[in-house]
Amino acid sequence: MLKRKDLLGLKDITAEEMEEILSTAVQMRKILDQNVKKTPHLQGKSVTTLFYENSTRTRTSFETAAKIMGANTTSISAQTSSVTKGETLIDTGKNLDALLTDVIIMRHSMSGAPHLLAKNVKASVINAGDGMNEHPTQALLDIYTMKEKFGDIKGLKVVIAGDVKHSRVARSNIWGLRKLGAEVTVCAPKTLLPAGIEETDVSVSTDLDDCIAGANVVMGLRLQLERQQAGLFPSAAEYNAYYGLNAARLDKADGDAILMHPGPVNRGLEIGSDIADCEQSYILRQVTNGVAVRMAVLFLLTRAKQQ
Ligand code: CP
Repeated sequence: MLKRKDLLGLKDITAEEMEEILSTAVQMRKILDQNVKKTPHLQGKSVTTLFYENSTRTRTSFETAAKIMGANTTSISAQTSSVTKGETLIDTGKNLDALLTDVIIMRHSMSGAPHLLAKNVKASVINAGDGMNEHPTQALLDIYTMKEKFGDIKGLKVVIAGDVKHSRVARSNIWGLRKLGAEVTVCAPKTLLPAGIEETDVSVSTDLDDCIAGANVVMGLRLQLERQQAGLFPSAAEYNAYYGLNAARLDKADGDAILMHPGPVNRGLEIGSDIADCEQSYILRQVTNGVAVRMAVLFLLTRAKQQ
């Protein structure tokens, strides 16, 4: 049974803990499919989203999940909070404790910020993306979506293609997928591969046409122009020509392959509009599954704290 106070990454979580979250998410997905808009799972709990970076999916998904389960929700954006007056992250967290928050869901541009917060507050902390480090609930919803389609993660051939260097989604997926036995290949130009990737337990390729052959899952990544200096690739057109996902490339994957992307999508850059909305695209299914997975995480963490 999940016994942790916080969920900060998939690097420090066991396969058994992941399986518990994923199986609980199956029950939560059933609740969503029955269009139930209120459950008592988080009755009497307070959930705060504390976002120092922009978000559409993650923040809305957590807030939807918390509201469905009956929690009181509060939303804080760095731009409109006392952070702009110089308040530190730890002081902000201690004030949220004083306001009797049970769970703080935080996104921050600095890798490790949620870990610092978690050490200094009584509330459970969920990492909703920290810099280039991890985005654990995104990877859990990705893995949930793969499991829903294929039944088992073990032996699944997953290609993660694009801006791996700047991607917290890629890092969390690598940790999670490898722990569950998937065969993971990351593919990017050399300049968009993180240092030391060869030492991790994944295959590395710079040739998308080659590594996509026979893949069960093709996961595109957003080109994170806001996190990188100029000169990592010659031009958007050239990047699209060599690393853009399109119908011709998707055809090389396994006949039953699915296309995934964490969003937001840069159409015409890392993914073509011809396939972003095709039948093989699970991009919007990932978003709905994200609510179920976040319901599971919120429920299990708050239950663990009560025990
Ligand atoms: N996938 C994801 O993290 O999207 P948002 O930035 O919109 O939350």
